[in-house]
Amino acid sequence: MLRTNTCGELRRKDINKTITLCGWVQSRRDHGGVIFIDLRDRYGLTQVVFDPSHLAKLHKEAEHLGREFVIKVKGKLRERKKGMINPNMDTGEVEMFADELEILNKSDVPPFEIDDRKLANEFLRLKYRYLDLRRPEMQRNLLVRHKVALAAREYLSSKGFLEIETPLLIRSTPEGARDFVVPSRVSPGKFYSLPQSPQLYKQILMVSGCDRYFQIARCLRDEDNRGDRQPEFTQIDIEMSFAEQEDIFQVVEGLMKECFKKGINAEIKTPFKRMTYDEAMNKYGVDKPDLRFGLELCDVSEIVKHSNFGVFKQALDNKGVVKCLNVKKCAEFSRKDIDELEEVAKVYRAKGLAWMKMANGKLESSVTKYFSEELLIKLIKHTNAKNGDLLLFVADEFRIACSALGQIRNHLGKKLNLINKDAFEICWVTDFPLFEWDNDTERWLAMHHIFTAPRDEDLELLETDPGKVKGKLYDMVINGYEICSGSIRINRRDVQQRVMDVIGLTMEDAEQQFGFLMEAFRYGAPPHGGIAPGFDRLLMVMLGYDDIREVYAFPKNKKMECPMDGCPSDPDKQMLKDLHIKLDIAKK
Ligand code: AMO
Ligand code: AMP
Repeated sequence: MLRTNTCGELRRKDINKTITLCGWVQSRRDHGGVIFIDLRDRYGLTQVVFDPSHLAKLHKEAEHLGREFVIKVKGKLRERKKGMINPNMDTGEVEMFADELEILNKSDVPPFEIDDRKLANEFLRLKYRYLDLRRPEMQRNLLVRHKVALAAREYLSSKGFLEIETPLLIRSTPEGARDFVVPSRVSPGKFYSLPQSPQLYKQILMVSGCDRYFQIARCLRDEDNRGDRQPEFTQIDIEMSFAEQEDIFQVVEGLMKECFKKGINAEIKTPFKRMTYDEAMNKYGVDKPDLRFGLELCDVSEIVKHSNFGVFKQALDNKGVVKCLNVKKCAEFSRKDIDELEEVAKVYRAKGLAWMKMANGKLESSVTKYFSEELLIKLIKHTNAKNGDLLLFVADEFRIACSALGQIRNHLGKKLNLINKDAFEICWVTDFPLFEWDNDTERWLAMHHIFTAPRDEDLELLETDPGKVKGKLYDMVINGYEICSGSIRINRRDVQQRVMDVIGLTMEDAEQQFGFLMEAFRYGAPPHGGIAPGFDRLLMVMLGYDDIREVYAFPKNKKMECPMDGCPSDPDKQMLKDLHIKLDIAKK
């Protein structure tokens, strides 16, 4: 190695040692003749001193060092002078007194400073990602990512799981997003899909008798990016034979404990809390509740149905509900504050947001006139309203009323600073409905994917009341983010057929899309189930970000482009020819 030590490890005990360091020039300061360099590598910073009274020529050379030059310096480590000690720096008690300097490479003036306190704009950060990654924070993120992957591999291996790679060039997986596709050169006009997940393959591995499979698997989905979503992401993909929901929970709880411990040295409590999907929707208005704060929703349908408020009555007549949120001590919210909340509700398809304020033991609002005194008293009791509280109401069908108020809850959690940023609140959400009604196509769709088994007790509802069928389907949620999703699968053809009938999928469609799985299932498919923690999303939450890109080395921007390499790009003409493809781009 060109160096004897790294820039992060030198301490008092190393004083008087002669050492050689290599790294990048973070900064150069000229102090009355003496030049100070902060030298950076992945491990930290070390101060290097060039003294003209010691070696004049060397000092002259150091005058030419610019930011991000790559250098090799040799010298003796010494104690820093009194008053020069930097308690904020790991190596802050020592410095290198330079005897030799070699410039290994110069650098152009970088487009931004490599400094955690001064972030460049998003475009520059992605275009010059290699510079952005030199920042200590990003180096930390890559390190934690590595540690968590290692912890996952070690933990799952210790539990008898085999890591098995599944192909990237496949037939489409029915995960619900669009596929990225790859044209075939050898079979003109045919395309491979890139996997949205290894779902079908891991199930086939169960038929193969692999019993316990995992894979740190790359998944690709052509869907719009969001804060917690990228088109390419990684799952810690898991599948187990002869397992029930409890077995999967146990594996994932153990796995998460290890990942938090080894990744960021945090202890998390197991077993995780549990709640059903219905409970999550009723109390938090979302299927991924943020349990770092209270502010629970309640249902006031039974009370307000006796009022004369048309908006509420109409929703209830249409088999809807009226949900309420008691925002403590926020009666002083202005019209503008409430309008802002109403906008949030409307994004989630609510038609409006009604409110009442509690003062002098009474509810006040422009709509209280539709309520009898007795009803208002019941409302106060049911919502536990106290003077100074603000009640918010949404009347609509169950899903809309819950989710609109649930989103207001999340919005207020942030706005009112109710969230403990250091906490990890983890829970399982279980008993999801197996199907959801799609208004656009007027048919039932699978909530997760079509291989999820219905609960045994709900089997007979498949034909009579599909909306009531719950699946053996579970998510794990941390701080309001869905981190994992999984299910016990259908392993019997007759049940698979009945589920496909509900969503209007014919056996021919199924044969066409995943006939190979159906075929494999003819040869003794064991009962099996699995789950897939989203690796990037887990890291994002562990490290306290709300932008998933911070845990990627090379993420895509919002338009799914990489400003660094400029993809997606125009294809090479010869490449298209080889692929037998002619471009005919439709105008938008
Ligand atoms: P699902 O589609 O719910 O399930 O994905 C599982 C987990 O993967 C993460 N995830 C994502 N992370 C970043 N960017 C994305 N675009 C993205 N999409 C999903 C989430 C999510 O909880 N095959 C099933 C799993 C199974 O049934 O075993 C599956 O892929 O954290
Ligand atoms: P309107 O009678 O339409 O003027 O509405 C009176 C109040 O009820 C306004 O504050 C609306 O925002 C609110 N509102 C309208 N529709 C709903 C609804 N579906 N749920 C809750 N509040 C609503």
